[in-house]
Amino acid sequence: MKNVGLVGWRGMVGSVLMSRMIEERDFDVINPVFFSTSQHGQAAPEFGGKHHGTLQDAFDIDALKALDIIITCQGGDYTSEVYPKLRASGWKGYWIDAASTLRMKEDAIIILDPVNQQVIRQGIDSGLNTFVGGNCTVSLMLMSLGGLFAQNLVEWASVATYQAASGGGARHMRELLTQMGMLHDHVAKSLQNPASAILDIERSVTDFTRSGTLPTDNFGVPLAGSLIPWIDKQLDNGQSREEWKGQAETNKILGTQHTIPVDGLCVRVGALRCHSQAFTLKLKKDLPLAEIEQLLASHNEWVKVVPNDRELTMRELTPAAVTGTLTTPVGRLRKLNMGPEYLSAFTVGDQLLWGAAEPLRRMLRLLVD
Ligand code: HSE
Repeated sequence: MKNVGLVGWRGMVGSVLMSRMIEERDFDVINPVFFSTSQHGQAAPEFGGKHHGTLQDAFDIDALKALDIIITCQGGDYTSEVYPKLRASGWKGYWIDAASTLRMKEDAIIILDPVNQQVIRQGIDSGLNTFVGGNCTVSLMLMSLGGLFAQNLVEWASVATYQAASGGGARHMRELLTQMGMLHDHVAKSLQNPASAILDIERSVTDFTRSGTLPTDNFGVPLAGSLIPWIDKQLDNGQSREEWKGQAETNKILGTQHTIPVDGLCVRVGALRCHSQAFTLKLKKDLPLAEIEQLLASHNEWVKVVPNDRELTMRELTPAAVTGTLTTPVGRLRKLNMGPEYLSAFTVGDQLLWGAAEPLRRMLRLLVD
């Protein structure tokens, strides 16, 4: 059995990864070695019903060098510090990473096997050994819309995202919920009184939101009852870094010869852990809607086409319905007024599952099975 180092297993993405690995019995087919950046020497966790000894030092290059495969959810700073040293030491093992640091390196493959299994296998065959999970919005888009991309039917895609707090991290989720609770508490008494005027309540909430009282250390501004139309750093061309990733990563994952333009606006909303995205797609030809639905639905076992029906959409195409599941539904499919090649689509997906942890454990299975 392969020796597999696990780093960053305690954080939010790492915890989701561990629980998926337990569910899929991944621990039965590997010899796991748990690492810690701060608590080496303490007892390792007992995932998958086995004892795993003590935690190793995640900065100990010699200990890392002994492994066949390393999976890290520790974050970009860890990758930046350890990966170059480990490779410089001559280590040729497989590095599977959730952080974006190495994603665009020429000798790294962005992993999303239901979409680019062929690219991954070619990479393995040609000796590549660095595999990185994609940006969550990109991975979730491709899980839902993969059928159209696989048939090379997309001329371009324009997107508006509705990204959950979890994309920022665990602290961001706490901050959002705290803000929500404080807003509610602020007007709870008036809300209970059916005779109170809603505009007075709204004014009170708005004044409180602007008062600087809400915690905003993580988001920078209030998110509850609001939204933030900027995610990640500002680039010189006016895009946010999140928006830049859309085209760069989509094309890298697909291994396209000619770049498919993907652009739009990335927006943080008050959802907890599901990213939603509204697309305008320009298709290369005028396909009947039924054919489009069939192509989408048959692309992978997780995508689900939600008929463009009000009731079904409200029930099945929301973060509340999708959170915690591996389903990546796509709906609101219809031809737009702009012309028969213009298609609308709305996708929802769990940011921590297909958006982060799931491609990593599936990459592991590709290497060990
Ligand atoms: N950058 C994404 C977000 C998550 O902030 O929602 C990571 O892919």
